[in-house]
Amino acid sequence: TYHEAIEQAGSSMFRFPLVRVRGVPLMSLIAKEWDSIWAFNPDPSDLLISTYPKAGTTWTQEIVDLLLHNGDAEACKRAPTPIRSPFLEIIPPPPVPSGLDLLKKTDPPRIIKTHLPIELVPLGFWENKCKVIYVARNAKDNLVSYYYFDLMNQTQPEPGPFDGYVHKFMRGDLAWGSWYDHVKGYWEAREKRNILYIFYEDMKENPRREVVRIMKYLDLSVSEEVIDRIVDLTSFKNMKENPMANYSCIPKPVFDHSISPFMRKGVVGDWKNHFSDEQSKMFDEDYERQMKGTNIPFRTLI
Ligand code: A3P
Repeated sequence: TYHEAIEQAGSSMFRFPLVRVRGVPLMSLIAKEWDSIWAFNPDPSDLLISTYPKAGTTWTQEIVDLLLHNGDAEACKRAPTPIRSPFLEIIPPPPVPSGLDLLKKTDPPRIIKTHLPIELVPLGFWENKCKVIYVARNAKDNLVSYYYFDLMNQTQPEPGPFDGYVHKFMRGDLAWGSWYDHVKGYWEAREKRNILYIFYEDMKENPRREVVRIMKYLDLSVSEEVIDRIVDLTSFKNMKENPMANYSCIPKPVFDHSISPFMRKGVVGDWKNHFSDEQSKMFDEDYERQMKGTNIPFRTLI
């Protein structure tokens, strides 16, 4: 099983350095296999869920899987998230299957996860007019969530002290690059590429409304009762307790949930517990500069 493969890979796991692919820092194993990732050709029926890491990927994957299974909770417990919805570019050490290996074994239509910035998304997704859901989360909460993730995820560079981490985030030096370029890239392409662009904060504010938006985008129609059930099954509390959705499938030595659980807090505004007033002011000034000229409706300071 996936779980056993990870335990077997055990000692070969370590914090991989980041290597730039067309300017974007990625885990070295991904950079090494870049050509095969870039050559991936999806089926037109495949759906891509794209995010900057920690913006609400897993939550959206669960909503989509439930929509495709008419709210059948048991069907969506058939396997853990990364098997049900493979991570396109992930290249773990053997014998853990890569995203490409898992995709080969799964028939379309597939729910494919990626963190790639739009310019690194394999061209086949656009040529085949695949549907794409992009989830964005306000920068400061996204950063805090990523900080805790980098503490617990033993395959990415150590985050170091929080203050330095804030600067790395602002410079775009974390794995998968600049948050600013990521959210802007998909925003600018959303009309041309028919991308559904949604926000973590909107999902928290009114999950039902966002589930309905996703359903309509996917040209699905489920009953009101099923929508309510999906909202309930994908609440933070229920997903945290669901072993097929809470990433307990990835044990030590990769994810050390005792340092910080994958399902950590699931709230809006946790950045206030981490940024000093000074850090916040400096971050906001830089944010203005990096986001100048864009009209993405972020509610950054919630
Ligand atoms: P926090 O670290 O702020 O708690 P991703 O899936 O992109 O890696 O994002 C993980 C973040 O989404 C974590 O944020 C996690 O707790 C949160 N999350 C996961 N499922 C959620 C849900 N059902 N409701 C709200 N937040 C959720």
